[in-house]
Amino acid sequence: MAILKIARMGHPVLKRVAESVIDPTAPEIHKLINDMVDTLEDIGGAGLAAPQVHVPLRVVVFHVPGTRLAAEDGASGQVPPGIPLTALINPEITPLGPETVEGIEACLSVPGLAGMVPRYRNIRYRALAPDGSVIEREASGFHARVVQHECDHLDGILYPMRMKDMATLSFVEELRRYEDKEAED
Ligand code: NI
Repeated sequence: MAILKIARMGHPVLKRVAESVIDPTAPEIHKLINDMVDTLEDIGGAGLAAPQVHVPLRVVVFHVPGTRLAAEDGASGQVPPGIPLTALINPEITPLGPETVEGIEACLSVPGLAGMVPRYRNIRYRALAPDGSVIEREASGFHARVVQHECDHLDGILYPMRMKDMATLSFVEELRRYEDKEAED
C-alpha cells in the first residue's frame, strides 16, 4: 500500500494529454490503481485521476456513496444505491443530449477552492476494467459530473477551465461559513 503525493495546479503533469494504457491487466497498472485507491481513501474525495499522482496515463478511480448522490442530486425519500469504487482505464465519454447542469466542484489538485461548473446532465461512458473487460454505463447528475471531472484530468483540463462565472470561485471555508449563516437565517 502506498499513499501518493498529489500534483497541484501549475504542475506540468496536469496540463498534458495523458497516454492510453496498452495493457490494462499489466501488474504495474494494477499497482497504480491500488495505490490510487489507497490515496483516495486516505485523502477523501470522490475521485482521482492518474495525472494527479504524477502518472500521465489514462486511468481514473472514483466512487460515490448513495448519501452523496442523494444530497447532490436533491433526491427525496430513499437513499439511492451508491456507485461502488470503480477504476476506468482509457475511458471515453459520450454526452446523451445537449443539456447541462451547474454544480459546485472542488479538486484535490486545487486545494481549498470550489466553483460552479457546467457539466452534461446525461452521459454514457465506456472504459476498460483492470481485468480487461469492458465497462459501459449511463450516468446522470452527480455521478455523471464526477466522471466528467476525472476524465478531464486526462486531457489536461482542470475544473476552473470549465467555469463560466469566475465570480463563483470561492474558498471552501468561506462557502461553508456562508452556508451556515444562511441556515441560521
Ligand atoms: Ni480533480
